[in-house]
Amino acid sequence: MRAYRGRKYEEREWVARQYGAPSPVHVKRSVLLRIGIPDAVWVETGTFKGDTAAFLANQSRKVYTIEPDNTLFAQAEKRFLGDPRIQVIRGLSEEVFPSLLSTLNGTVNFWLDGHFSGGTTHQGPSDCPIREELASIEDNLDRYDEVVILIDDIRCFDPSVPEYADYPDLNFLVDWTRKNKLHWHVEHDIFVAKSGRDPAIRATGQISRMTSGVAAEKK
Ligand SMILES: C[S@@+](CC[C@H](N)C(=O)[O-])C[C@H]1O[C@@H](n2cnc3c(N)ncnc32)[C@H](O)[C@@H]1O
Repeated sequence: MRAYRGRKYEEREWVARQYGAPSPVHVKRSVLLRIGIPDAVWVETGTFKGDTAAFLANQSRKVYTIEPDNTLFAQAEKRFLGDPRIQVIRGLSEEVFPSLLSTLNGTVNFWLDGHFSGGTTHQGPSDCPIREELASIEDNLDRYDEVVILIDDIRCFDPSVPEYADYPDLNFLVDWTRKNKLHWHVEHDIFVAKSGRDPAIRATGQISRMTSGVAAEKK
């Protein structure tokens, strides 16, 4: 009942904002489900209360979720104690990624949501460690059959706004997907990068039709 009321409140508030970003949590989670590769492992940066980790665990085989804040980490660890589907890892995602990602293979979904968000959330050396996170993913891309990378809060990727000075701009993300021959688009304040269904697309970077964005240009 509380969750239902929260959802109704969020929806009313969203309508009042004329559907401006960010979209309500349940809408964002629908995006994760629709676009995430079924049965893939999920890697989430920024556990916070663990609600998205719990949601994803019901839809997948394994969730790795990373949280640097000691209190939030301890709460999440307690919440998921004895649940083999969820592994909570303490640390900064940019420091955890190199060792964690090299242990994964097959299909992997990333929910990159680990950044300073005010309140009780952790403020690390960078408010937004996305550059380092993507560099680690790039180092391991060849290990994975398919990937989907979902980056939250794309409205914040404007370093000309003082509050978001640590964020790269949208061009950085687009250039990174191009370099790595991934498709990209944006929906509901989420940047989506994913490998093509046809492995040949990844090999050559070529596709026959252009949607909102595609990894490599045809040569
Ligand atoms: C917006 S909240 C995450 C919400 C959560 N992913 C969800 O969907 O419910 C951001 C979280 O990222 C954490 N955080 C901050 N810097 C981080 C970093 N460098 N690596 C990983 N997490 C970080 C914060 O402590 C906070 O818990």
